[in-house]
Amino acid sequence: MNNPKQSHGAHGTADTATDHVRIFDTSLRDGEQAPGFSMNRHAKLRMAHALEALGVDVLEAGFPQASPDDLAAVTEIAGALRETTVCALARCQDGDIDSAARALEPARHARIHLFLSTSPLHREHKLRMGKAQVLDTAVRAIERARQYCQEVEFSAEDALRTEPDFLVEVFSAAVEAGASTLNAPDTVGYTTPEEISGLFRHLRQHVVGAERVTFSSHCHDDLGMAVANSLAAVGAGARQVECTINGIGERAGNAALEEVVMALKVRAPYFGVSLGIRTPQLYPASRLLCELTGQAVPRNKAIVGSNAFAHESGIHQHGMLKHRGTYEIMRPQDVGIAATTLVLGKHSGRAALRQRLQALGYTPDDQDLDAMFARFKQMADAVGEVDDDGLRVLAREAHFQPGAQVMGVLA
Ligand code: KIV
Ligand code: ZN
Repeated sequence: MNNPKQSHGAHGTADTATDHVRIFDTSLRDGEQAPGFSMNRHAKLRMAHALEALGVDVLEAGFPQASPDDLAAVTEIAGALRETTVCALARCQDGDIDSAARALEPARHARIHLFLSTSPLHREHKLRMGKAQVLDTAVRAIERARQYCQEVEFSAEDALRTEPDFLVEVFSAAVEAGASTLNAPDTVGYTTPEEISGLFRHLRQHVVGAERVTFSSHCHDDLGMAVANSLAAVGAGARQVECTINGIGERAGNAALEEVVMALKVRAPYFGVSLGIRTPQLYPASRLLCELTGQAVPRNKAIVGSNAFAHESGIHQHGMLKHRGTYEIMRPQDVGIAATTLVLGKHSGRAALRQRLQALGYTPDDQDLDAMFARFKQMADAVGEVDDDGLRVLAREAHFQPGAQVMGVLA
């Protein structure tokens, strides 16, 4: 583990004054704790390697106090990763902090992540603590964690339903106690982009020592706004985003990493921030997570769904064949998908049919293509998607002579 006596922050300075946004992946903690997404330590280790290949800045590997297997998973990951900061979650309790520190011992770059609820609802019903006790508990825990680890992140659970001035008080005390990252989670997915933006501006303006720390967002998707809220937080100065591959996580999930990353990349001039993510590793990481958890993503999932770079309607296919920018705002290769697919179905037109036949080595003239087109539509009505074998059947029926196969123009 790194030397607790060094200065705050992974690089010795806080990121709030820079334009670099750290990506903090919590697929193996917040994601993994959701029903249906549990992974054993072998699966977690495979996923951790994929996340390091992707270039995430921080990887939350688990909650060591939760189970012996989770502690072992964090230790294995801590020993295996070279570049990525490995993080372990802990409640503000001595036993949790000690387990997190033990699990992180082999790490080259380590972080302990402490959390404590700050909202009135949680203080009264979950913690049964007053404000002063919350403040004191947080400070003591941060000080203990700092004895083990240079990097300590403090999360004010349910921050978005906490009185802003109390949040400022807690965060100011957290900085004083030695936290280098302050995370304001929207634990229940309740906030809106405008609201979270206002909160981050308020925090950056009023927290004592704000210039020395990194502010972080952690949004859940209960109202379908996790990604939009994370991006709004970045716009208001957050320089760490906590997110998960495929958006897995508690209830409706966390902000989807691939969506946050590609929004920040595709709209780079708008957001004006930089990232360390190797985006062609997004799709492989998404696929691996599906394989390890047995949970597929919907076809229409942004970035990694099978429809994300597929077009069936004739109008869209025609546009794509003229210029890919007509209906795609990023290249499939940028996210690790081999090529755009023009799916042939009942909505497709002649242009896509001709292009696919050419890719298979057939070069029908207009008259032949017209004759085949009616048969193609019948087949599409019957089977939905006409694949290459179906096209070969149609081509044989129409007595087309195959030539050499050529690469599709969008491949
Ligand atoms: O959603 C949440 O508040 C959390 C914390 C533990 C950061 O996951
Ligand atoms: Zn969470």
